[in-house]
Amino acid sequence: MTPTRDDCRKLDANDPIAHLRDRFVLPQGVIYLDGNSLGAASKAVIQRARQTVENDWAQGLIRSWNDAGWYDAPRRVGAKIARLIGAASDEVVVTDSTSVDLFKILVGALKMRANRTTILGEADDFPTDAYIAQGVTEFTGTRFKRVPADDLIGTIDEDVAIVSLTHVNYRTGLIHDMARIAAAAHAKGALIVWDLSHSTGALEIAVNLAQADFAVGCGYKYLNGGPGAPAYVFVAKHHQAAIQNPLTGWFGHAAPFDFAPDFAPADGIGRMLTGTPPMLSLAALDAALDIFADVEMKAVRAKSISLTELFVALADEHLTAHGFTLASPREAALRGSQVSLAHSQGYAIMQALIARGVIGDFRAPDIVRFGLVPLYVRHVDVFDAVRAIGEVMAERAWDTAEFLARKPVT
Ligand SMILES: Cc1ncc(COP(=O)(O)O)c(C=O)c1O
Repeated sequence: MTPTRDDCRKLDANDPIAHLRDRFVLPQGVIYLDGNSLGAASKAVIQRARQTVENDWAQGLIRSWNDAGWYDAPRRVGAKIARLIGAASDEVVVTDSTSVDLFKILVGALKMRANRTTILGEADDFPTDAYIAQGVTEFTGTRFKRVPADDLIGTIDEDVAIVSLTHVNYRTGLIHDMARIAAAAHAKGALIVWDLSHSTGALEIAVNLAQADFAVGCGYKYLNGGPGAPAYVFVAKHHQAAIQNPLTGWFGHAAPFDFAPDFAPADGIGRMLTGTPPMLSLAALDAALDIFADVEMKAVRAKSISLTELFVALADEHLTAHGFTLASPREAALRGSQVSLAHSQGYAIMQALIARGVIGDFRAPDIVRFGLVPLYVRHVDVFDAVRAIGEVMAERAWDTAEFLARKPVT
């Protein structure tokens, strides 16, 4: 027997991190299951955004680079993220977007393996990871090779300079074994780069224990930093003196305010900076991260597993007859904080669900994706969402011209 709505209420009543939901502003009548794409707004972020504009900028003006801690913000906020990924506080900096940071890391890491010509990736990785690798290899006269996830380790050879992977697959939620892949890469002399966009803030991660060389990731998904929040870069301490940032802007300079004619990289992680940080969005991310100071990632992960297990059990019981199949790993240990279901009418079904206030998303060709963010999603939300999917199917609510027509942005 799968849990009833009452069972779900009890699970929520006993949830040790249930109180964190009150720190977010969620619209009435909406079940928000898309925080793996854009995290929800917290009260702290709204308050900080207002303070940054009205006080720090409007009143403080240029003095705020020092007085409001703007200049140090990329490193200070990086240290907050470092705690979440098992890095030292001076191994992470917040800057640019994930795409740009990946570009910088791939070019820099290729130079550290100059006698090798291959970047190895996974066939089903998020497009920007592949596109950036394609651009980098085109400009550097190297090559980008993609293989299915199961073939990765067997494909690493002495020509592979970098293995570049997303830790949690955006489509299925499958978690790669960081330590195992890093060990295989290092055994052949290759470097490992992780995109942690779908991991940080949702999973327990230990980049240093897992021997990661480099990592990048998004600030606007599970970290709730707001639309287009800046991204972060991790460089393991032992690589910080060797890696060169190809985008040699003045914020990565050893002494930006000397205005010296020639570039000299900053010591340490600061060399991964490029230009002036986007302070409005960086301040928002800074405030968004404070919630993680009050919760252990172990508790976040435990709730995440409880939510995804519930979703899978309810989907098995109520949605299989409607033609859905589970596209995420069945084993909780291999699944990130999302559940993906495959259905040939997935696009229209998701549009019909969104019209009813259950917001997930669709990923071509046939995946409906539900991000279950432990900080603000409840078990009862999962119950109601699966019931809504069942109703949409029973009523064929998806089968209208409005929902069947694909729009360019979903
Ligand atoms: C794995 C992964 N990497 C990167 C990005 C986005 O990169 P950017 O912030 O540069 O647009 C996404 C966005 O969904 C993603 O899923």
